[in-house]
Amino acid sequence: MDKTTELCKAAIGMRSKSYAPYSNFRVGAAILTPDGRIFTGCNIENSAFGPSICAERCAVAKAVSEGCKDFEAIAIAGGRSGAELDYCPPCGVCRQVLSEFADKDLKVILVKSETDFKAYTLGELLPLSFGAEDMGV
Ligand code: THU
Repeated sequence: MDKTTELCKAAIGMRSKSYAPYSNFRVGAAILTPDGRIFTGCNIENSAFGPSICAERCAVAKAVSEGCKDFEAIAIAGGRSGAELDYCPPCGVCRQVLSEFADKDLKVILVKSETDFKAYTLGELLPLSFGAEDMGV
């Protein structure tokens, strides 16, 4: 199985772990490191809403906390519980968080199924982004 298929499959599978009692919108994500490791995440909501975390940031947090800070691609699968999947783009906060660790050429894969997905670069999804270089760091 190629890595894109593996990522799509993992993102779809992670929707079953989603904790989304408030929105019923289940999201799974799978992020790939250059050495071929895959970290997964799901959205985890909270009754206070603010502390909720998206699937993409969950996956990034799991990877970074395991010492992996370089990424090549991320697959995202999101949709209402029980409904057919449509392409689910990452929210603005997740785009910004991805930009902290990934180059503009990070592949962002929006997954409808293992065989039906659209791929963009992070640069396409977050043009003119704010980064460390804008702070002179
Ligand atoms: N959500 C994600 O997990 N990722 C995104 O990029 C978009 C939104 C989650 C947050 C919330 O739990 C639910 O989807 C509805 O917004």
